[in-house]
Amino acid sequence: MKKKAFITGIAGQDGSYLAELLTKKGYKVFGIIRRNSTVEHQKSRLEHLDKDVEISYGDLLNESSLHQLLKKIQPNEIYNLAAQSHVRVSFEIPQFTIKTNALGVANILEAYRLNSRNAKFYQASSSEMFGRSVDKDGYQRETTPFQPTSPYGCAKVFAFNMVKHYRIAYKLFACNGILFNHESPRRGSNFVTNKVVKTAVRIKLGLEKKLKLGNINSYRDWGHSKDYVEAMRLILNYKKPDDWVIATGQTRSVKQMTDYVFNKLKLNKKKHIFIDKKYFRPEELKYLRGDSTKAKKYLKWKPNYRFEEMLDEMIDFWMDHYERS
Ligand code: GDD
Repeated sequence: MKKKAFITGIAGQDGSYLAELLTKKGYKVFGIIRRNSTVEHQKSRLEHLDKDVEISYGDLLNESSLHQLLKKIQPNEIYNLAAQSHVRVSFEIPQFTIKTNALGVANILEAYRLNSRNAKFYQASSSEMFGRSVDKDGYQRETTPFQPTSPYGCAKVFAFNMVKHYRIAYKLFACNGILFNHESPRRGSNFVTNKVVKTAVRIKLGLEKKLKLGNINSYRDWGHSKDYVEAMRLILNYKKPDDWVIATGQTRSVKQMTDYVFNKLKLNKKKHIFIDKKYFRPEELKYLRGDSTKAKKYLKWKPNYRFEEMLDEMIDFWMDHYERS
């Protein structure tokens, strides 16, 4: 019989790549999306999969739909990827972020425990939970303490702890993937990589003049979403539930990332880039560099994309997009 997967946040970057991966592996995939006043583009990342995935309306804050769906579907695997995923926005809407990213996880964990406890459960935990904390050797790993620096990070720490608690208290196969930043052409264009690439391409094509950025001195460990959804699947197919850091082990500043894109497109940074206080955060997470030794050893996971290759793919995507339109 086909394995069944249930994905919240299926319409997002990771949800759509994961749905693609799992359908290719022969899974029947189910997902929920929130009702939105504009239906256009809501499922744009999933249109090519329409036949293979079954989408229902649902929300982490609407408990009854979670209970009903899990009871009916009886999935083998549950991937909780839904969230208010933008860190800076979490300072503007802290309560909503906490409701979705913390209480929402408690809701789906309860629905899981009460209706489909034989399933395996994946929680999209985040490197944002590390916040100010870096080990002496300059890495963050499974043992690094959490010191979150945003409402988003605080809510994710709560969710992380709940998942671990459910694993121990109720003997559930509940896991945390602590994923570092991961990008792709499907990344929302208000995250820094895709904002830089999309705007630089528009500048190159004469459609725009300025790129306004916030703190360009923070460092991130950027991987490719396609590699990271493969890690999610491996995490749930490992012999025991656990928590895993997924990262490339390399770190670069926002400035270095921007330099690469501007050099590639032969654009003059001085002419086009401006710093705008609007994009600064009340508290910044300054430095991320993950150590995935554990995932490499036990899950046999490794990233396939190189940083430059990923940015090139994003540049090509936006070039094609504007040349076609
Ligand atoms: N978004 C954005 N826009 N970020 C900017 C800008 C800008 O104009 N200018 C500078 N930055 C800096 C941010 O201050 C941050 O230091 C860095 O670029 C990366 O920002 P984002 O791309 O927004 O990602 P993030 O690191 O805050 O959060 C992402 O990664 C987390 C994992 O560490 C998100 O995907 C989270 O959902 C995820 O958990």
